[in-house]
Amino acid sequence: MHLKFLTLVKLGGSVITQKQISPPTVYKMAISRIAKELRTHQGPLIVVLGGGAHGHQAAHIYGFGDSSTPPEKLLSGIPLIRHNMTLLSLEVEQALNANGLPSVVIPPFSSVSLHDGEIMNFPTDIIKWTLEAHCAVIIHGDVCLDDVRGASILSGDTISVYLAKALDIQRVFIGTDVDGIFEENPHANPNATLVPVIDSSNKNFVLAGAGASASTDVTGGMARKAQELIELANQTTQVAVFNLTSPGRLTALLAGKSTTCTRIEF
Ligand code: IPE
Repeated sequence: MHLKFLTLVKLGGSVITQKQISPPTVYKMAISRIAKELRTHQGPLIVVLGGGAHGHQAAHIYGFGDSSTPPEKLLSGIPLIRHNMTLLSLEVEQALNANGLPSVVIPPFSSVSLHDGEIMNFPTDIIKWTLEAHCAVIIHGDVCLDDVRGASILSGDTISVYLAKALDIQRVFIGTDVDGIFEENPHANPNATLVPVIDSSNKNFVLAGAGASASTDVTGGMARKAQELIELANQTTQVAVFNLTSPGRLTALLAGKSTTCTRIEF
């Protein structure tokens, strides 16, 4: 069965957690407001959670993101990262269900395997069946077993791109804490210019300038995000990067209305 109007929304970790605070703390007010915006969507929905404080802090402690970290150390980080991401995902699950959006968490660790940081096996049938059962799916960035490195981080962005291709998703909206993709890192330069549309004419220029995320980010920041999304937009998929901290923009995108964001069109 083809899931019509299947939409994927990524909730950036820096929006749903307090990224600078340790121990990791969820941002309840933001999660509750986002749940209300998601509720306006009619049709099948996948919500992908970034790691934010819950993922990145623990990943950093155990040396993820540093290629010289031995496998034993990476493996010893699994319980804390998984515990933190589970706490975050349950918080989102509770908010969605409380707002009348039936949803369940499907964590990657239990079924995804990686090979040198890349997805080797990612079964998606259970996700499809859950959507067909009229339940939204929450899936989150996670630590996964890796047959080369021991363990690697699977980011929410990588999950989004993979699922968009595997499930033929029509709309992919990536929520971050900035208005979209800028010519330079907007955290470093507040006067950086937003790029409203990325297409073949400005792709290389944008990729050269999109800076890394300002806070502890073991998965590559905005430049990697832009690269992955550009690859995705080659398919028959609408892609937009938008500011999820700004109330109403997600609702506008879900309703097919125009709003401040970067659209990726190929
Ligand atoms: C990271 O996912 C997941 C973990 C560190 C476990 P992302 O890289 O997608 O997270 P954010 O959105 O940048 O926080």
